[in-house]
Amino acid sequence: MTLFTALAMAHPNIALIKYWGDRDAHLHLPVSGSISFNLDGLATRTLITFDPQLHADALSINAAPADEKSLKRMSAFLDVVRRWSGSVVFASVVSETNFPLGSGVASSASAFAALAMAAAHALNLNLSDQELSRLARHGSGSACRSIPGGFVEWKCGQSDEDSYAETIAPPDHWQLADVTAIVSSEQKAISSAEGHQIAASSPLQAARVADANRRLDICRSAILERDFDKLATITELDSNLMHAVMMTSTPALFYWRPETLAIMKAVAAWRQSGLPVCYTVDAGPNVHVICLAQVESEVTARLSTIPGVSKTLCAHPGAGASFVK
Ligand code: DP6
Repeated sequence: MTLFTALAMAHPNIALIKYWGDRDAHLHLPVSGSISFNLDGLATRTLITFDPQLHADALSINAAPADEKSLKRMSAFLDVVRRWSGSVVFASVVSETNFPLGSGVASSASAFAALAMAAAHALNLNLSDQELSRLARHGSGSACRSIPGGFVEWKCGQSDEDSYAETIAPPDHWQLADVTAIVSSEQKAISSAEGHQIAASSPLQAARVADANRRLDICRSAILERDFDKLATITELDSNLMHAVMMTSTPALFYWRPETLAIMKAVAAWRQSGLPVCYTVDAGPNVHVICLAQVESEVTARLSTIPGVSKTLCAHPGAGASFVK
């Protein structure tokens, strides 16, 4: 009996220009492009074994059997892999994440990027980087950005074939840090997947999307020119726009807590006084504080004095997903 097995690793990523809203919820085709960088130091490692003796897919996450919802989502993704490869064999998947789930770092991105990489290798799919990114997108939109390395842009594309992410600059292009200030580790009540589907119900979403290419151009050039002020202004604007859409959709989504706003205001004031720092917030209350790496200890120390910050996690621009063995 032949078992097809592979181990792969991927980092999560933080979006500077966000993905919020789908044109096609099933295929995770976004309404606009997004830009992110991978978070070195934080990682998901995934071992997959396609085994002809299995009667169903199986998933364990951090040494415990996964809940029904996660298993179903993974199985639906493996159905795509099986369609691409012509295989009908079920798989057992063992996934380990070295950062706290619910920490405001999107684990679905690193999970599906590592899974796509592992599954494609196990079944000898011989995919290009673009095809791997497309494949990972089927599991989680943001996962397509964890396949290429460094600073990454996901072009929204027109269809399944041309919606994938590519590197715009390698990890060592710019010494940045992402210090995540954790104010709550509770799982969010409304998932990003549900949020993407109701984004269009906000009257502000159309204006946000209409302005997306302008923000993408500014962010891309800020990265290429290593212009921190330019990056800071556009990153904060983009995060605020996404949260304005969330707060005005039906139902309204309020991910911030009082501490979230306190951190955002403190970060803005620090920048006013000359510290190279800015904030961005995903679908949760924790704040990603982006800064030049040279001030990361100062930023960590300052964040730790803000009431309600229970801990901080620090990461730097990282490589793309990789096949381990
Ligand atoms: C707010 O693609 O991670 O982080 O996999 O369904 O959770 P799910 O969706 P995902 O949505 C990401 C939303 C975001 C913004 C971003 O990362 O661009």
